[in-house]
Amino acid sequence: MPRTIGILTAGGDSPGLNAAIRAVGKSAARTYGMQLIGFRDGFRGLMENRFVRLGPEDLAGILDRGGTILGTSRTRVHKMDIGNGKPMDMRPMMKRNVEEHQLEALVCLGGGGTIKNALRLAEVGIPVICLPKTIDNDVYGTDVTFGYDTAVNIATEAIDRLHSTAHSHHRIVVVEVMGHNTGWLALASGIASGADVILIPEVPYDVDAVADKILQRKTAGSPFSIVVVAEGAMSREAAETFAKLEARKQQASTDEEKQAAKREIEAFEQAQLRSTERLAEELEERTGLESRVTILGHVQRGGTPSPADRLLATRLGVACVDFIAEGRVGVMVAVRGESVEAVDLKEVAGKRRMVPLDHPMIHSARRLGIALGD
Ligand code: F6P
Repeated sequence: MPRTIGILTAGGDSPGLNAAIRAVGKSAARTYGMQLIGFRDGFRGLMENRFVRLGPEDLAGILDRGGTILGTSRTRVHKMDIGNGKPMDMRPMMKRNVEEHQLEALVCLGGGGTIKNALRLAEVGIPVICLPKTIDNDVYGTDVTFGYDTAVNIATEAIDRLHSTAHSHHRIVVVEVMGHNTGWLALASGIASGADVILIPEVPYDVDAVADKILQRKTAGSPFSIVVVAEGAMSREAAETFAKLEARKQQASTDEEKQAAKREIEAFEQAQLRSTERLAEELEERTGLESRVTILGHVQRGGTPSPADRLLATRLGVACVDFIAEGRVGVMVAVRGESVEAVDLKEVAGKRRMVPLDHPMIHSARRLGIALGD
């Protein structure tokens, strides 16, 4: 049996996944004579042993394709919903499948959730290696993730287009972009598209400060504004409430207390879902300008990857195979400056990379007079 590597894609899809699969498969075959098999639909496919051989013909023509040719799913390997109402630890079954295929390594392409799952598999002896992908750019331990550049491009183009209509109608256009609980995508696309206000989770906002900025623009002869809001952005009051709920969850000692704290957080998150619409209404009331909301949603992660993401995914895929050949598993392949390094999964799992408040993008935004709502 030839030396074999397995691969799967998990979590939300992200532009560049197919470029990474292609790079792993081509490099493994050409450099080390290894073959590649792919598991369908993430960890679920690994558990069910649904796999496909990925030979040269399967890897041809996928470099510029969006999505993932393997399919993906969101699930937890140690608490998997298998339809009987009782989440189960399915790692033993996954381990059996890895052993049956005699995999030298299992490459897991994903973001924070996938990395946590991969570490759980490593704990039962599965030789995993991760590549960081997500449009959110929030994976700890790497300078950048693939998918982010494409999403910044898509969001920037969309906001550019909203500019001309906001200008023509003298309106406030509030644009919600993805990014989960971080502001990388909002900040980058907001600066690149010349937004007037950018609201991110790292900087809780005061709605009056946002309204003041819009009114100043109106007084100065620009009765329109573009407000870019990260989906995880919170007002100061909401951020305070959230911090209290989180603290309560941390302090909970009994199962009952933990469940109650979890329910409170879920209710809070549910209430936050319409926060962008509410912000637009509040700004309309305070400024007297008409407002409109655009939620960019999943369009940000669909379609063809940018050249920068294809390149990054390819570099990481090639480096990944070299690490496997050296026997380096239990790691994530990370970008550090100009180089690519293997970082222990224990160092990165369960952490999130937020935008540092002294980041050059924040500095540039402030220098340009873009309001951050604080
Ligand atoms: O993590 C990528 C991401 O697109 C986030 O930006 C967003 O919060 C989430 O996934 C959306 O998830 P779903 O695809 O399950 O709606």
